[in-house]
Formats: sequence, C-alpha cells, structure tokens
Amino acid sequence: MVKSRSRIYPLLTADQIRDRVRELGEQITRDYEGKDLVVIGLLNGVYPFFADLTRAIDLDLDVNFMRVASYGGGLESTGEVKILFDVDKSIRGRHALVVEDIVDTGLTLFKVRKLLLDRDPASLRICTLLDKPSRRRVEVPVDYVGFPIEDHFVVGYGLDLEGIYRNLPYVGIYNPA
Ligand code: IMP
Ligand code: MG
Repeated sequence: MVKSRSRIYPLLTADQIRDRVRELGEQITRDYEGKDLVVIGLLNGVYPFFADLTRAIDLDLDVNFMRVASYGGGLESTGEVKILFDVDKSIRGRHALVVEDIVDTGLTLFKVRKLLLDRDPASLRICTLLDKPSRRRVEVPVDYVGFPIEDHFVVGYGLDLEGIYRNLPYVGIYNPA
C-alpha cells in the first residue's frame, strides 16, 4: 500500500488529547487512591498514551507491559490474537488497569482480560484512548474511554498503518481511497 500523509484527515488535535488524558488521569487517581495499582500497557500502540496517562495519575503506581498482536498489519483484523510477550510480575491480589490505544472488535482485550483474570488480581479494569463500539464482535467491559469514535481507520498518537504514523502528535482518519 502506498502511504501518504495527504490521506490523513484530523480527528483529534494534540490539545484535545492532552485535556482528555488529564481528565482520565484525575478520575483514575480518585478511583485508586490508597490501592496497590499496576498499570499494564499493551504495546506497541499504547506508548504515547501510556506515557501521558501514567504521568497524569498522581499515585505510586507500578508500570508493566504486554505485547499482543491482533492485526496482520493492514486495515482489517485477522480475528487472531497472539501474546508476543507477557507481564513480568505477579498481579495476584493487586489492582490491575490494562491500558490500550483502541478497542475495535474487542477480540484483543477479551483474550487479555481472560488471561489476566486467571491470575487472581484484586480487580481488573480497562482504559482505552479510543473506542469504536460499532465494530464490536465480542462483549468486553471498558471502564475508561478517552473518546468514542465512528467506524474509521485512524492513525497517530500510537496508532499505526503497517507500522507508520505512530509518532504523529494527533489522531487522524486514514482515507485509503
Ligand atoms: P481489536 O482486537 O479488534 O479490538 O483490535 C485492537 C487493536 O487493533 C488495537 O490495539 C490496534 O492495534 C488495532 N486497531 C484497531 N482499530 C485500529 C485503527 O483504526 N487504527 C489502527 N489500529 C487499529
Ligand atoms: Mg494496539
């Protein structure tokens, strides 16, 4: 696929994202006050959101990462979810907050949630920057949503098209036509 920045139409500005991330951080700070919180980021797409969100949470939290792959690299989900690497600490009895860039079909988080719940955390919640509810194929509870969006393929602020555009400071709709 020939990629071009001219095909990207702005959806969320860097300022809008920053303001919303600050609100999410404040909400999470209130919700987890006094609790043993481990925040688990799903790489690679989560990296800018994770860095900004964790710094907006005013608590002594633990950070950890998982890497899962759900897309073949193109515009459509393969429906297949592979754990490429796992968290490296026990979450038993701790409050786990999984952070994702976008929830689309829900297949990724469905599998990740099941896997982590088997390890007996005190609680498990999910936070996503973006949510495409109209695309859901499996039911998965999402506790914190930055922005619900329509069914568009989006890039930027961590989200990629075949590995490219993750470093854009804003989120845009990629129009392949
Ligand atoms: P799900 O398993 O279908 O919910 O897909 C979740 C993953 O698919 C996300 O973590 C992204 O990596 C990828 N994804 C879904 N929608 C988009 C999009 O619009 N742009 C870029 N990546 C996406
Ligand atoms: Mg992702």
